[in-house]
Amino acid sequence: MNFLEERIIKDGVVKSSNVLKVDSFLNHQMDIALIEEIAKEFKRRFADKTVTKVMTIEASGIGIAAFVAKEFGVPLVFAKKSKSINIDGDVFVAEVESFTHRNKNQVIVSKKFLHEGEHILIIDDFMANGCAMQGLISIVESAGATVEGCGIVIEKGFQIGGRVIRNLGYHVESLAIVDAMDAETGSVTFREQ
Ligand code: G4P
Repeated sequence: MNFLEERIIKDGVVKSSNVLKVDSFLNHQMDIALIEEIAKEFKRRFADKTVTKVMTIEASGIGIAAFVAKEFGVPLVFAKKSKSINIDGDVFVAEVESFTHRNKNQVIVSKKFLHEGEHILIIDDFMANGCAMQGLISIVESAGATVEGCGIVIEKGFQIGGRVIRNLGYHVESLAIVDAMDAETGSVTFREQ
């Protein structure tokens, strides 16, 4: 078991058969020493990639991606969720549907901060159905930039996101892949990697 899997076992709470709460250390209160270790692990896993910018989506991806950007010595840009339909031409836009929250957001990145020829590492805290990741990928590609990889802290392996994004040919690294959870016993089963 790696350091993150150990922490999930210690402090994660299985809320239902498909929701894992990690808000005591990852996405509400944040254990900064752990986030630094996570960032170093992404640096190690994507060491052979050219990365000119890290990208994530608000809100809870930002704190983690900031440390990853520091490891690579590059800027972080985060996509903003916008309800507005009057989006002007100065932004790249993707529509992202959340199955968890049952809503749709337009996700935007200013054209000032994403350019043709850039090499982007996408980072997020969770991947479930992969809708957020697909939105980010489409924004990067519509800018004429390259997706160098997708780094996920916790992938829910029993939802389709990881399979879809890998099948599209992207390099996905998930620090923990949860294959099953049991709300009654609180047990979490990780995929061997
Ligand atoms: P998808 O992008 O992979 O399709 O995911 P989905 O719509 O199902 O997830 C929507 C939001 O719920 C995401 O945050 C995601 O990080 C979060 N999420 C999904 N599964 C879990 C889980 O098991 N535990 C926790 N704690 N979060 C989960 P978001 O809407 O972008 O919100 P935020 O980043 O502003 O917090």
